[in-house]
Amino acid sequence: MADRTPLMAANWKLHKTVAEAEAYLAKFLPGVPEDGVEVVVCPPFTALAACVEGCAATQVRIAAQNMHEAESGAFTGEVSAPMLSEIGVEAVVLGHSERRTYFGELDEALALKVPAALRAGLLPILCVGETGDEREHEQTEKVLRRQIELGLIEVDDDQLAEVVIAYEPIWAIGTGRTAAPEQAQEAVAFIRELLAERYPDEAGDVRILYGGSVKPDNATELMAQADIDGALVGGASLDPEDFAAIVAAAT
Ligand code: 13P
Repeated sequence: MADRTPLMAANWKLHKTVAEAEAYLAKFLPGVPEDGVEVVVCPPFTALAACVEGCAATQVRIAAQNMHEAESGAFTGEVSAPMLSEIGVEAVVLGHSERRTYFGELDEALALKVPAALRAGLLPILCVGETGDEREHEQTEKVLRRQIELGLIEVDDDQLAEVVIAYEPIWAIGTGRTAAPEQAQEAVAFIRELLAERYPDEAGDVRILYGGSVKPDNATELMAQADIDGALVGGASLDPEDFAAIVAAAT
């Protein structure tokens, strides 16, 4: 089996000022394991530079929560991949369901964002996942197929291992309704099968995370699933002790 280093990411969403981010890191960083797990923190744009600086002497990498696909242009309010990498950001969350639902993010834009991130040397964390309604109507596989195929349409074989996929069923995000470990494993294994259809030699190297109400008390069981290589954590990542406990579940 491929040797995939687990990746545990804290998605702070629209939380934490610079001062709050610094106070968090002061508590969180001393307990971060030195190896065996990759830790990523995704602060809002305004706290990125402070977090890059705060984590400079550590293994923790900083990710943005979104970016535009163009390098520059008349796109008011947007930030590009080279702008992020210039300040030391190393990864970017793309296609989070909140961006898809509230801000009209489309698979077609993600098809451009993923390669734009790779060109700038950023690790793209591409989020996919079905709504509760889609699951009830047995559309999960169809939705995942569309999101994966379009999101990766411009990604070549030799770049695939530089992409991280996050399976986040929308019905489990911020609801306290975690997917059962077997349910999460089933969807993540299906995503790996989809990858293998197009990238038979590389699919086993791709890290696929689970996200959706991951907490200290359910993380161990989720991380024990064969195809789940880490977590993208929202609410519980806002508390440094809780996130540290979740990170520990991957080691
Ligand atoms: P919660 O952990 O709050 O459910 O959020 C998950 C998520 O959206 C991470 O990106």
